[in-house]
Amino acid sequence: MPVLALFDAAGEWQDTLVCDGLIRQRLEPLGLLFGRIDLPSDLPPAGQDAGTDWRALLGAPLQALWPTFTPAFIDRVSLAPDPSDGDALRPQFIREHHHDDAEVRLFLAGSGAFYLRAGGGLLALLCDAGDWLYLPPGLAHGFDAGAKPDFDALRLFADPQGWQAHPTGRDWPAKLPRFDALVDGVLAQTGLEDGE
Ligand SMILES: [Fe+2]
Repeated sequence: MPVLALFDAAGEWQDTLVCDGLIRQRLEPLGLLFGRIDLPSDLPPAGQDAGTDWRALLGAPLQALWPTFTPAFIDRVSLAPDPSDGDALRPQFIREHHHDDAEVRLFLAGSGAFYLRAGGGLLALLCDAGDWLYLPPGLAHGFDAGAKPDFDALRLFADPQGWQAHPTGRDWPAKLPRFDALVDGVLAQTGLEDGE
């Protein structure tokens, strides 16, 4: 289930929300939508998914986006907890950027965190398997899955070139917890255990 951590502009932790309704109130003004679907049990393994009809597999809740968001490009990002796997990509993912197109991200396995700016502060949305996120065109964001990334996700774009990232050139504050520290902080504050 998604968890939203709120920070001030310096990256100091302010609050943690675990209720979907409260999280939605914070994210909808940004044009950001999120939800959760039951993942099919017959997902093809990464690397063996050529020809997969993702629309049929993803189910009705996500297909409800199709009238306004028709994915023309679906990209699968699957990283194992091997430092050599994530080292090269981590700086690219975490740097603040935006896309000309909307981006939909669906987590098939593992977890990761999106970083955003809102109302003069910063937000971190922690997602895991089954969570999906709709980022509207132009909304600046970053993504991190930690020093040993372990996630499998689909990225869907309506424009075949929409995945191209435009860096904003802004840095996240040093105090803003990156994924591993974020998870530790969420566990400490909520008492949630992995998998709950
Ligand atoms: Fe992105």
